[in-house]
Amino acid sequence: MLCEGIGGEKEAEAAGKMAAVEEEEEMGSSCSWRMRGVAVVLLRGLLLCALVAGSGWCNSVERKIYIPLNRTASCVRLMNATHQIGCQSSMNGDTGVIHVVEKPEDVQWVLTDGPHPPYIVLLDGELFTRDLMDQLKESSRISGVAVAIAKPSPVKGFSPASKCPNDGFGVYSSDYGPQYAHCNNMEWNPLGNGLFYEDFSFPIFLLQDENETEVIKQCYQTYNLPRNGSVPQYPLCAMQLFSHMHAVTSTVTCMRRTSLQSTFSINPEVICDPLSDYNVWSTLKPVNVSTKLNSTEKVVMVATRIDSHSMFWNVAPGAESAVASFVTHLAAAEAIHKAPNVQSLPKNIMFTFFQGESFDYIGSSRMAYDMQKNKFPIRLENIEYFLELSQLAPTNPSVFWMHTDPLSQRNLSDQINTMLVALKNSTAGTGVEVREISSSQALPPSSFQRFLRLKEIPGVVLADHNTSFQNKYYQSIYDTSENILLNYPEWLSPEEALDHVTETAKSLAEVATVVARALYQLAGGSGSTTAIQADPKTVTRMLYGFLVRTNNSWFQSIIKADLKGILENEPPPYYIAVSKPVNATYLVHYVLANLTGTVANLTKENCLSSDGDLYEYAWVQGPQDPNSTSSRLPFCVRSAVHLSSAISPAFELREWGSTQYSTWTESRWKELHARIFLVASKQLEIITLIVGIVILIISFIATYFINAKADVLFATPQDSGAVAY
Ligand SMILES: *[C@@H]1O[C@H](CO)[C@@H](O)[C@H](O)[C@H]1NC(C)=O
Ligand SMILES: *[C@@H]1O[C@H](CO)[C@@H](O)[C@H](O)[C@H]1NC(C)=O
Ligand SMILES: *[C@@H]1O[C@H](CO)[C@@H](O)[C@H](O)[C@H]1NC(C)=O
Ligand SMILES: *[C@@H]1O[C@H](CO)[C@@H](O)[C@H](O)[C@H]1NC(C)=O
Ligand SMILES: *[C@@H]1O[C@H](CO)[C@@H](O)[C@H](O)[C@H]1NC(C)=O
Ligand SMILES: *[C@@H]1O[C@H](CO)[C@@H](O)[C@H](O)[C@H]1NC(C)=O
Ligand SMILES: *[C@@H]1O[C@H](CO)[C@@H](O)[C@H](O)[C@H]1NC(C)=O
Ligand SMILES: *[C@@H]1O[C@H](CO)[C@@H](O)[C@H](O)[C@H]1NC(C)=O
Ligand SMILES: *[C@@H]1O[C@H](CO)[C@@H](O)[C@H](O)[C@H]1NC(C)=O
Ligand SMILES: *[C@@H]1O[C@H](CO)[C@@H](O)[C@H](O)[C@H]1NC(C)=O
Ligand SMILES: *[C@@H]1O[C@H](CO)[C@@H](O)[C@H](O)[C@H]1NC(C)=O
Repeated sequence: MLCEGIGGEKEAEAAGKMAAVEEEEEMGSSCSWRMRGVAVVLLRGLLLCALVAGSGWCNSVERKIYIPLNRTASCVRLMNATHQIGCQSSMNGDTGVIHVVEKPEDVQWVLTDGPHPPYIVLLDGELFTRDLMDQLKESSRISGVAVAIAKPSPVKGFSPASKCPNDGFGVYSSDYGPQYAHCNNMEWNPLGNGLFYEDFSFPIFLLQDENETEVIKQCYQTYNLPRNGSVPQYPLCAMQLFSHMHAVTSTVTCMRRTSLQSTFSINPEVICDPLSDYNVWSTLKPVNVSTKLNSTEKVVMVATRIDSHSMFWNVAPGAESAVASFVTHLAAAEAIHKAPNVQSLPKNIMFTFFQGESFDYIGSSRMAYDMQKNKFPIRLENIEYFLELSQLAPTNPSVFWMHTDPLSQRNLSDQINTMLVALKNSTAGTGVEVREISSSQALPPSSFQRFLRLKEIPGVVLADHNTSFQNKYYQSIYDTSENILLNYPEWLSPEEALDHVTETAKSLAEVATVVARALYQLAGGSGSTTAIQADPKTVTRMLYGFLVRTNNSWFQSIIKADLKGILENEPPPYYIAVSKPVNATYLVHYVLANLTGTVANLTKENCLSSDGDLYEYAWVQGPQDPNSTSSRLPFCVRSAVHLSSAISPAFELREWGSTQYSTWTESRWKELHARIFLVASKQLEIITLIVGIVILIISFIATYFINAKADVLFATPQDSGAVAY
C-alpha cells in the first residue's frame, strides 16, 4: 500500500512543481530502498535545517511542497445585532482532499462514496447554487469549498443577496404601510438565494483566475481521479484554506467585549469593526459647512449609492447595482454646473453619494440622522424634493421607471406630480422615455426610504425596472461591466479605450441629460433646458475608469499625488470597508471635484492652506508634461465637494442591538489564503513521525556522548584553563 502509487507516476509532469514526489521517484524501485531514501532525505533536511537555521532554507522546503493560490477571495464573517453570517476555517486552516464537482451528480462522491474524507469541493461556478450548498452544509464530510468563477456568467442569473434586500430597514413597517412591509407587495430580487446571509461552518473561497483553477484540476486529475473503477491511492492532491475569524455570535456580543476591553486594557484586542466609510456630497451653490442652512433655503437632493457586495470579501463589481447609476449622477452634476446662470437658481441642488447602502442603508441612515439632529449643514426641512437614481443599466428600448411611495401620494400628490412632470418634460429629444409605476406599488429598496421614515418628503426613485429587478446578478461577483453591455473593440490601446464612446455611455448620457434638466426645473429654473446636455465623452471615461481600469491618464491627472497608489489596471471593489475612505470613495470624490469644480490659480502652498467652510481645495497631479515624460503639471482644484461620515448611528448611540439602524460589523482575522499540496497516507505520516523520533533520540545520544567526551574531542594539547577567556 505504502509504496505503490508513489512511483511510476509519469503524469507527475502535469503537476511538475510537486517536488516532494519527484524526489521520491529518484530513489529506485524497491520498497525498502525508498524507505531508506525517505529517511535519508529527512535526515539531510533536518541536519541542514539545524545547521542553516534561520537562513531561509527551511522555508524553501515549504515552498517546494506547497503551491500557494494567488488569486483567491474569501468569504468572511459579518455580524448584525442578532446573527453571524459568512464563513470561517479552524485556527490552523482546514484541509481536505480535492474533489472537482462539474455536474450535480459528482457531489455524490464527497457526500457518501469517497473513501478519503474530509473533502474540499472545487465547485464549478454554475453549480454554486442554494440547493447544492445546502447539501454540502448538511454533510460532515466537507471541510471547505472553492468556487471557480463561471465564464461567461451563469445565464440563469445569480444573486447571493436576499429576495427582499434590506428588509426591515426601509420605510414600510407595521406603522407605515404594513401591506407593503417585507416585500409583501413585490419581491424585488426574485433570483436572490440568500447565500450571503447564511452561516457556514467551513471556509469558502473564490478562485478568480482560470489558470489557477486549471492547475488545481490538473493536480486532481493526476492524483485523485478514480481510475478503472478502483479508488484513488495516496498521495492525494489536497487543499488547505485559511480564514479563521476572531469574532463570533453577533455584533452585540462582539462590541460589548471590545468596549469592555477598551475600558480595562491599555492594549485592547479588537475583534470586530463596524462597517463604515464616507458619503460624498456637494452642492451646486456652495454652503457654509460650519453653520446650518436657513430654513427658508430649499434644496433639491439627488442621491445614489456607491457600494455593492458579493459573497467574497472585497469583491464587489457592482456595475449595474451601483456604478451605472452613480456615473449617471456624476454626469448630470457636470451638465448642471456647465449650464448658464445656474448659480442664480432659486433653489440649491445637493449631489449625494451614499456608502454602505447594501448593508441596511448605512450611509443614508447616518446622513438622515445627522440632518434630523442638526449635525449637518442641511436640515430635513430644507429638502424640497428627493430624486434617487437606483439601478440604471441601459435598456432597449430606453425606458426607465419612476417609482413613488403610494402612501405619501395622499398628502404630497402635488409636489410628486411636479417631479413626475419635470422628468417627463425633460425627455424631449433624448430618446429616453420615463414612465410611471402603478400607484399601488411600493418603493423599491432605496436610500430615499430612510429620509421618508423621518419626514414626508416628495420623492421619486428612477430605475431600469418596472416590477422586480432587471439585474440578474444583483450584488454578486457577476455584476461586472459585461452586465451593462460595456464592450470595447479589442484592438484599442488603454488610452484609446478611455475615450472610445460606447453605446452604454451614449445611453447613460441621455439619462443623465434627462436628470439634469429635471433638476434644473425642480430648482426653479425657468429658462430653456435644451442647452443642458450631459457629455457622452465624460460618461465613457467614467465607465472605463470605474469598471475597467482606474490607472488611466484622466484619473491620474485628477487625484492628489499621495493617492496615486490606489490606481490599478483593474476596477476597484465597491465593498464598504471598516473606517478610512476606500479607494472607490476617493475616486468618486475626485471625479466629482473635477467635474463640478474650477481650476484655482494658486500656488501649492496657498492651495493646501485654503480649505475653508465653503470650498475644498485639492492639489492634484495634473496631466503629463508634454515636454518631459517624467514630470506632471499639477494644479489646484476648488470644489464644493465634502465627505461625511457613513457609520451607522447604532454605533454612535452604542445601541448595538438596534433594529432601527444597521448593525453590521466585520470580524477581524489574521490571514486569508489558500494552497494546494500532496498529502501522504496516514501510514506514511506515522512512519515519518517515527523516523523523526528516532533521529531525535539518536541526536540526544550523540549530544550526550559528545558532551561526555568533550575534553577528549575538543581539548588542545596544552589546555591551561583560564587562558582561553
Ligand atoms: C441579522 O441577519 C439575519 C440573517 O440575514 C437576519 O435573519 C436577522 O433578521 C438580522 N437581524 C436584524 C436585527 O436585522
Ligand atoms: C492563462 O494562461 C494563458 C496562456 O498561458 C494566458 O494567455 C492567459 O492570459 C492566462 N489567463 C490569466 C487570467 O492569467
Ligand atoms: C502563485 O505564485 C507563486 C510565486 O509566484 C508560484 O510559485 C505559484 O505557482 C503560483 N500559484 C499558482 C497556482 O499558479
Ligand atoms: C486501466 O485499464 C486499462 C485497460 O484495462 C489499462 O491499460 C490501464 O493501464 C489501467 N490504468 C490503471 C491506472 O490501472
Ligand atoms: C461660515 O460660518 C461660520 C460660523 O458662522 C463663520 O464664522 C464663517 O465666517 C462662515 N464662512 C464663510 C465663508 O462665510
Ligand atoms: C397626511 O397628513 C396628515 C395631517 O398632516 C397626517 O396626519 C397623515 O399622517 C399624513 N399621511 C401620511 C400617509 O403620512
Ligand atoms: C486601494 O488600492 C491599493 C492599491 O491598489 C490596494 O493596495 C488597497 O488594498 C486598496 N484598498 C482597498 C480598501 O481596497
Ligand atoms: C499606471 O500607469 C502608469 C503609466 O501610465 C505606470 O507607470 C504605472 O506603473 C501604472 N501603475 C500600476 C499600478 O500599474
Ligand atoms: C478635469 O480634468 C480635465 C482632464 O484632465 C482637465 O482638463 C480639467 O482642467 C479638470 N478640471 C478641474 C476643475 O479639475
Ligand atoms: C495666476 O496668478 C498669477 C499671480 O497671481 C498671475 O500672474 C497670473 O496671471 C495668473 N494666471 C491666470 C491664468 O489667471
Ligand atoms: C514645452 O516646450 C516648449 C518649447 O520649449 C515651450 O514653449 C512650452 O511652454 C513648454 N511647455 C510646458 C508645459 O512647459
